Amino acid sequence: MADVFTVLGHDHTEVKRMLDELEAGPTRATGAGEDALAARGRKVQRLITEESKHEAVEEEYFWPAVRRLVRGGDRLADHAVAQEQAAKQVLDDLIAAQPWQDRFEELLADFIADAREHIAFEEEQVWPRLRELITAERAKELGRKVEAGKRLAPTRPHPNTPPRPAVLKAAGPMVGVADRMLDRVTGRDRD
Ligand SMILES: [Fe+2]
Ligand SMILES: [Fe+2]
Repeated sequence: MADVFTVLGHDHTEVKRMLDELEAGPTRATGAGEDALAARGRKVQRLITEESKHEAVEEEYFWPAVRRLVRGGDRLADHAVAQEQAAKQVLDDLIAAQPWQDRFEELLADFIADAREHIAFEEEQVWPRLRELITAERAKELGRKVEAGKRLAPTRPHPNTPPRPAVLKAAGPMVGVADRMLDRVTGRDRD
């Protein structure tokens, strides 16, 4: 059974791969045609889905553990959650933008830079501190919760939902179901 660092690490690797791919283009400015732009739009929607699920389960399960176990954990968690909230706002604008609009590329470029900084903060500043203190058993249990939580987690950013674990746990599954229904109706879940 994978521990929480492995589970979240897989997500980070996948998100970073998507960021590299999107950064490489092509974009409208570098000559992408209609099909390539449509594919770019779908990739961005996939990125938004992955990112929304990932941050939601971190906020439900990971940051509470950091706050509880790490000395200065509140400061670390507050900083990271603020980064996550700012990113949700960008993604909420991006979800409605079209890949042929300048605004789409501006929002995406902002998100790419912020996401890399956020992932580096988690992996370099937070994970080593938590790793020292968490038991192997608890790390596995958290990994299980994070993995299970992702199955019903929101697939859209919801920047106006307070990022508090109790609120997310209460609202998360219903929001996740509603998101998936909307994704189905709008075709957002189609590759
Ligand atoms: Fe995060
Ligand atoms: Fe993360």
